[in-house]
Amino acid sequence: MCGIVGYLGPLKAAPVLLNELKCLEYRGYDSAGVAVIENGRLSVMKAAGKLSNLEALLADKKPSANVGIGHTRWATHGIPNDQNAHPHTDSTGTIAVVHNGIIENYEELREELKGLGYAFNSDTDTEVVAHLVSHEYKVDKDLLKAITRSVKRLVGIFALGVVSQEHPDRIYAINHHYSLSVGLGNDENFLASDSMAVRQYTNRVIKLEQSEIAEITAAKVRLFTFDGVEVKRSPIALDTSPYVIDKCGYKHFLLKEIHEQPLVLRQTLSKYLRHPNHPIDLTIDHLTPAGSQSANYGVHLTDEEIKGLTRINIFACGTAYHASMVGKLLIEELVGIPVDVDIASEIRGRRLLCNESTLAIAVSQSGETADTLAALTEAKKKGAYTLGITNRADSHLAQLTQNLIVTECGIEVSVAATKTYLAQLACFYLLAIYLGERRGTLTPERAKELKIKLNLVPAMIEQILARDEVIRETSVKYAEAQDVVFIGRGLNFPTALEGALKLKELSYIHASGYAAGELKHGPIAVLDQNVPVITVLVPGLVYEKTLSNAQEARARKAKMIAVAVDGDEQAQRTFDSVLTIPPVDELFSPMTTVVPLQLLSYFISDYLGKDVDQPRNLAKSVTVE
Ligand code: M6R
Repeated sequence: MCGIVGYLGPLKAAPVLLNELKCLEYRGYDSAGVAVIENGRLSVMKAAGKLSNLEALLADKKPSANVGIGHTRWATHGIPNDQNAHPHTDSTGTIAVVHNGIIENYEELREELKGLGYAFNSDTDTEVVAHLVSHEYKVDKDLLKAITRSVKRLVGIFALGVVSQEHPDRIYAINHHYSLSVGLGNDENFLASDSMAVRQYTNRVIKLEQSEIAEITAAKVRLFTFDGVEVKRSPIALDTSPYVIDKCGYKHFLLKEIHEQPLVLRQTLSKYLRHPNHPIDLTIDHLTPAGSQSANYGVHLTDEEIKGLTRINIFACGTAYHASMVGKLLIEELVGIPVDVDIASEIRGRRLLCNESTLAIAVSQSGETADTLAALTEAKKKGAYTLGITNRADSHLAQLTQNLIVTECGIEVSVAATKTYLAQLACFYLLAIYLGERRGTLTPERAKELKIKLNLVPAMIEQILARDEVIRETSVKYAEAQDVVFIGRGLNFPTALEGALKLKELSYIHASGYAAGELKHGPIAVLDQNVPVITVLVPGLVYEKTLSNAQEARARKAKMIAVAVDGDEQAQRTFDSVLTIPPVDELFSPMTTVVPLQLLSYFISDYLGKDVDQPRNLAKSVTVE
């Protein structure tokens, strides 16, 4: 979603801001802009559409300023156009503001400010902040105090960047339940809502905590609470990672990320699973990156606390929710604790039955998903133990939880999640075995067998990836479909949901995932010869029943596609097309069955000429509820 950047130092600000913004592109946006202070004058340049439009504008105007803020906007209030793009300025054109999040009381403030004679030029909630700061500034000509008074009047969660023509040597950054990092250089400083954006310049950052204001000059960073009290904080070192933001020869980031999955799994597994004969160790304090503040790395529950757990609640959205659905089945199967998994946004306004013997798990690639954070906070208030599973050790989620499992994926640039899904699944396998070992629900022999099988998965995925040409040829046969139905049972019902989500996101084809047994209870009405039905079919407890459900679809003349294991002759006879995977134990199959479905969606999207890495309307990090 929206991204904030800033720079002040000896370099020209515009190219730095642009480089920072490029790192945030993957988060999703529909317009971009910068505000710089040049020769004592504030100048704003902004453009709807891709960053290349802003780049062209900057190439034309060639600002040589050394200070500025920038923004990528994902529209919430007002359509994506030049006018609504950030930065927004006050009436005097001397104060500029960029903003992530939502100002919930903006209408009330807008009316009040209009009453005071301020004229508005956009439909955004952000513009009220520019006028409010300007209004407060008139009181005592103290910008920090004006900002402090202003932000205290804002309701909602937000991050802001503010520059003023009258103070060209500084940027103000404000964080209220959001995320903002100041990157520290030598006589230069950087600002970014995602620390990824400053990593190209420095790996030393100060993360703003909740309700804090940073006063940033080229030489110094001072932090203040909303009550005006100065706080001191040491910088942290950003994690180093073997992954780079580069397509490395692949046509799209998505394809590269799908192909990185064996590596990602090996990294995540090897971090916690030393040897099949040894119990899984989720504590791993020794792996905490140097200088990191994440004292909560790993799972730190005592044996007594683990044995005392009566329930687990998992909160997540989108793909992370699908991984969590698999997690529920694994934990219930291997540990015997009842697990509820909820779409995080559904927790609002509901009576959440968590208590001191509950483990609340929040799963989020970005660690910034507002709905997931809100659900976790609610569970925390009820006294639950908290565990975060995220790909971002520097995220808001990582700060919120007592226990933390970090997936080893490196940055996932493509908006559609693939490698992080696999890594989240891996974490649930590890967690289920870990809890099973600690609670004694798994014998050492069974635990060892599970660990050996888990370690075999990356090689199986390599074999599937080697078949990508066959998957491509099959996929494009179905690329013109208007509607596609995915079905699966048990552990592969979430796979069906994830397959449908990937196809929707990437190709804009309407797709739905169903529990295979549910087809006959309604969805079967949509089937005819124009609707492909994709069945996830793996030998095991639900094989025969899934096959019967597929037959019901076949009888309605649907085009039949299966993901099935090598040598499954029944599948070859029943389906028009079969995407094969190596034979796999049903329990571990969600990690392999999803891979052909990711590739299928990728190839269809590319064939249709869609924006594979940044599908329309989507954002990588969904920071509004
Ligand atoms: O960062 P999170 O994992 O919390 O994001 C949750 C969803 O927004 C995300 O999984 C979304 O569904 C992706 N676009 C899936 O490809």
